[in-house]
Amino acid sequence: MLLARENHIKNTMKNGVRNPEKFKVVIPKGIGHYSIKSSLMWIGCGDNVIEVPTINYKYDLVELEKVIKENSEDIMAVIAYVGDSRSMTVENLEEVSNIVRKYNENIWLHADACHGFSLGFSKKLKNKIKGIEKFDSVSTDPHKVLMTPYTVSALLIKNSEKLKLITTSSDLIMQEPFAFGQVTPFIGSKSWISFKVWCVMKNLGIENIGKIIERRHDMAKIFADKLKKNGFVVLNDVDINSVMFMFVPKNKTIDEINDLNKELKSIMDDEGKFFLHQFSINDDNGKISKEKILYPLRYMSGNDNITEKDQDDLITYMKKIINERIEGVELE
Ligand SMILES: Cc1ncc(COP(=O)(O)O)c(C=O)c1O
Repeated sequence: MLLARENHIKNTMKNGVRNPEKFKVVIPKGIGHYSIKSSLMWIGCGDNVIEVPTINYKYDLVELEKVIKENSEDIMAVIAYVGDSRSMTVENLEEVSNIVRKYNENIWLHADACHGFSLGFSKKLKNKIKGIEKFDSVSTDPHKVLMTPYTVSALLIKNSEKLKLITTSSDLIMQEPFAFGQVTPFIGSKSWISFKVWCVMKNLGIENIGKIIERRHDMAKIFADKLKKNGFVVLNDVDINSVMFMFVPKNKTIDEINDLNKELKSIMDDEGKFFLHQFSINDDNGKISKEKILYPLRYMSGNDNITEKDQDDLITYMKKIINERIEGVELE
């Protein structure tokens, strides 16, 4: 966001943010990660995000175009999720880039690919992230998806010259181009954490990492099918490895359905046999009730030891809780 800010109005580092409304950032509504909003507030741009409605957990491209057209001079960045934290849906990267560039060549395009960069390792799946090469910056989190201990995040910048926008200088810092001290704001000395990623890549090789990523994807798709066969409602199309789902008993209101799914989660958490995630999300696809806020359960096949037997056991376990311990509901 610092790069986007400097790219938008040069020398803001020196002069400060004079008019925060001129530093707007566009994000998809309801699926964004807090890191964008927080960083904007930390760097003095205030809370000036514009949230654009989504369809199937991606930008509604018609709405996106309207927003860009109306605000093109005041937008400093547009964010696309290459795997949002909830549904792990990959954005229409090419279309988003085309719409933005049509109105303003200088808007910074940032792809949050903390999860989705992993698809790039697989020959079979890499076409899902086509268009990412058009983005000015891409954030990646090897510690999430590359079997690497916490922490190691990498920010990829399309045009390395742009890093000079946020360069500071001091005679204490080495003077060669891109010496770390010049371009790593807020971070002083650092350990060689990227070494872990290099070791994983050397040890497993690109092809084998690709196979692991494909297995995770396959396992999520298999689980989504199993859920559907067992009477659960799956809310998203599996793009990476996330499956959002709910049990939906008949003749219940949305609030009741949400409460019952929270009850299921709470029983599971107390017993500690299986852990699923739960959060609020818009029903983008009208699988249960369009535009209503839902509290689904979410499975993620990030653990490479998960087997189909584990998935079957989880479904049997959830059905047993629903039928025997949650009052007044039944799942066939
Ligand atoms: C889409 C997305 N972006 C960014 C982050 C930040 O991750 P971290 O703090 O682990 O680097 C997360 C974490 O869940 C995420 O899901």
